[in-house]
Amino acid sequence: MNYRQRYEAYLELFNAQLTACCDEYLPLGSQVNEAARYSLLAGGKRVRAVLCMATCELLGGQAQQAAQLACAVEMLHCYSLIHDDLPCMDNDDFRRGKPSCHKAYGEATALLAGDLLLTEAFEVIANAPVDDRARVGACAALAHGAGSAGMVLGQELDLKYENQPVEEETLRLVHRNKTGALINAAMQMGASAAGGNAEDCQRLEQFAYDLGLVFQIVDDVLDVTSTSEELGKPIGSDAENNKTTFATLYGPQGAMELAKKINAEACGRLSRAYGERSEFLTALAENLLCRRG
Ligand code: IPE
Ligand code: IPE
Ligand code: MG
Ligand code: MG
Ligand code: MG
Repeated sequence: MNYRQRYEAYLELFNAQLTACCDEYLPLGSQVNEAARYSLLAGGKRVRAVLCMATCELLGGQAQQAAQLACAVEMLHCYSLIHDDLPCMDNDDFRRGKPSCHKAYGEATALLAGDLLLTEAFEVIANAPVDDRARVGACAALAHGAGSAGMVLGQELDLKYENQPVEEETLRLVHRNKTGALINAAMQMGASAAGGNAEDCQRLEQFAYDLGLVFQIVDDVLDVTSTSEELGKPIGSDAENNKTTFATLYGPQGAMELAKKINAEACGRLSRAYGERSEFLTALAENLLCRRG
């Protein structure tokens, strides 16, 4: 199966599972549930879901085993986007090609829709059809990546450093936490489903944080060089909020050179460790580097 076909196959599995999760955990009939479904079902690349399932397969499991865990990480990611767009954070009116959650449903409902997705993500894991060890491992990985050692910390730092000059080292720390930590969680959850060992988990962690850094550098560049149609979200948001990004530090070209270098090193390490089995993940990394949206 080539890269595209395999990505599509993961999406098909994921979408079927997500529909089932929405029916069970976000039932229609409440405004907050509807707002959560509005954002969650609006699409997105589903990178974290694909990483979760592909990691499970890399370590000898089957993608289906990780499909419900993939839903949980996308629910948590979607909460982070809803809150990230709020006026008190990045104040962005569009997301995934549609009005942001708070534009469509109001701020209070959007806030609660985020809370709901965060909470239900853990119920989805608790009820996932994997063994107890995998459920506990996935819960711990997601909580760790989302909380005080991960995404929430990263978002705190991101806001703290608005309106002030920032050096590369600090920016790497912000990106590592706000983006890398959840990407790592997605991969560790897939590893849990497959019963991965400590050595695998450590290797994957290094790859995930590198991938996350590259992913956020590209996001920073696209905020300057892309169009809102391609991105499905506003461009120029970082400049409007006076954020230092890799694009402001080194210019779009310089930032992309750095991203390419980090990506090449990360993919080299993964393919030395896993040989042919790593081909999908290295192709994914390459595609995310060259993406336009
Ligand atoms: C956006 O994530 C937030 C960042 C960490 C840059 P994605 O670019 O994965 O957003 P979706 O899920 O495809 O909408
Ligand atoms: C957000 O980074 C990372 C999150 C934890 C949501 P950005 O603020 O750059 O993400 P976009 O550009 O709004 O998607
Ligand atoms: Mg932000
Ligand atoms: Mg934002
Ligand atoms: Mg951005």
